[in-house]
Amino acid sequence: MTKLIIQGGTPLQGTVRISGSKNAAVAAIPAALLASGASSLENLPQIKDVENFVGILTDLGAEIRVQESGSVSIHPNGFATHRAPYEQVKRLRASYYLLGVLLARFGRAEVALPGGCDIGPRPIDQHLKGFKALGAEVSLEHGVVKAAARRLRGAPVYLDVVSVGATINIMLAATLAEGLTTIENAAREPHIVDLANYLNAMGARVQGAGTDVIRIRGVRELHGTSHAIIPDDIEASTYLMAGVATRGDVTVDNVIPKHLEAVMAKLREIGAEVMENGDWVRVACRGRPRAANIKTLPYPGFPTDAQQPFAAVMATADGVSVIHETLYDNRFGYMNELMRMGAKVKVAGRTAVVEGVERLLGAPVQANDLRAGAALVIAGLSAEGRSDVYGVEHVERGYRDLLGKLRGLGAAIDRSPGS
Ligand code: EPU
Repeated sequence: MTKLIIQGGTPLQGTVRISGSKNAAVAAIPAALLASGASSLENLPQIKDVENFVGILTDLGAEIRVQESGSVSIHPNGFATHRAPYEQVKRLRASYYLLGVLLARFGRAEVALPGGCDIGPRPIDQHLKGFKALGAEVSLEHGVVKAAARRLRGAPVYLDVVSVGATINIMLAATLAEGLTTIENAAREPHIVDLANYLNAMGARVQGAGTDVIRIRGVRELHGTSHAIIPDDIEASTYLMAGVATRGDVTVDNVIPKHLEAVMAKLREIGAEVMENGDWVRVACRGRPRAANIKTLPYPGFPTDAQQPFAAVMATADGVSVIHETLYDNRFGYMNELMRMGAKVKVAGRTAVVEGVERLLGAPVQANDLRAGAALVIAGLSAEGRSDVYGVEHVERGYRDLLGKLRGLGAAIDRSPGS
């Protein structure tokens, strides 16, 4: 079984370049199918989720070329099916964006419900509510979502919960619908703005992305364009937290500091020194950080995807931290593993109480989802002695060259077997 072997205790020092955003990339890749011509996507992170989505598009008949510059060109030529079966989509959860895209392109879509990270139930009722509002008939048959509309017509959609996925899927479907769609109580995450910018560059008319009301006036046709994916705020947060956990001094480069505000505010609150300028953020932490409470919220609140890495920092903070997870039922599974490293944690439902200890002790641990893996890597880096982190495949879904980047910061980390 592949594992990461970490010899903990070295303060991380230096600069790490942040890759393109995973969650922006997995929205932009299917969006390319909406155009009549080729799109060129730059700054796509080379991670498993991107590789898998590009593979799904290839299976569906799209023409994909990787340019020398690293940008990926996607030509919808040859893409003529409204069906995406389970064998294809099971590889990643964001494949459900094909529903919005296929419905917009062909007026019908049959996409199997994907799996995903083990962080609790992840319903898509709000996505389906949006498609229905646009005039589609929607059913779930044998694990496949089927949606069909003679003509999609713009309509008002009020989301009952702030959902990134539903906001994106409805935006995708509405770009080629007739008339105006208004999404109220829309999610405001940076990657929603990034997708809107990409769609608009293709000729779409999307306004208000980044606020909680998004208006999409449907157009007849979209054309190919080139678009650079925004930097990954969660990857950046992960390295900043690794810097604090190891009492180091880490700069994340190629970031948009505005996207990191909630995390930077928390790091300042716990006593870390945080500096920012233009496209970088630097964090330094000499002594033991103070405990702090967090409550995960949709953007611009504290991101749920940074909850697990933050808990790894809190595990050795001075005092008691309370972590309240408001988005997912089951995003504390990794706490048992942290406890095996000596963390003092009590979990009750969606709340975890972490009593900081002086130090963690390295141990073999198992990651069961992407951000849990990041948290366990951070814990291992800060712990005394050796930690073996299993479940590497989860981490590699979302972090580009984690090993190389951490080594660049001075970490003693290896991968076994393999490279
Ligand atoms: N929800 C519903 N009904 C829906 C959709 C969502 O009840 O139809 C609920 C969910 O159960 C959850 C909340 O709404 O409690 C928010 O879910 P959301 O739809 O916003 O999440 P998502 O689109 O499935 C994206 C990211 C996640 C990230 C969340 C929250 C992508 C591909 N994934 O998921 O990223 O945690 O937003 O910010 O964009 C990760 O990167 O590790 C990851 C899991």
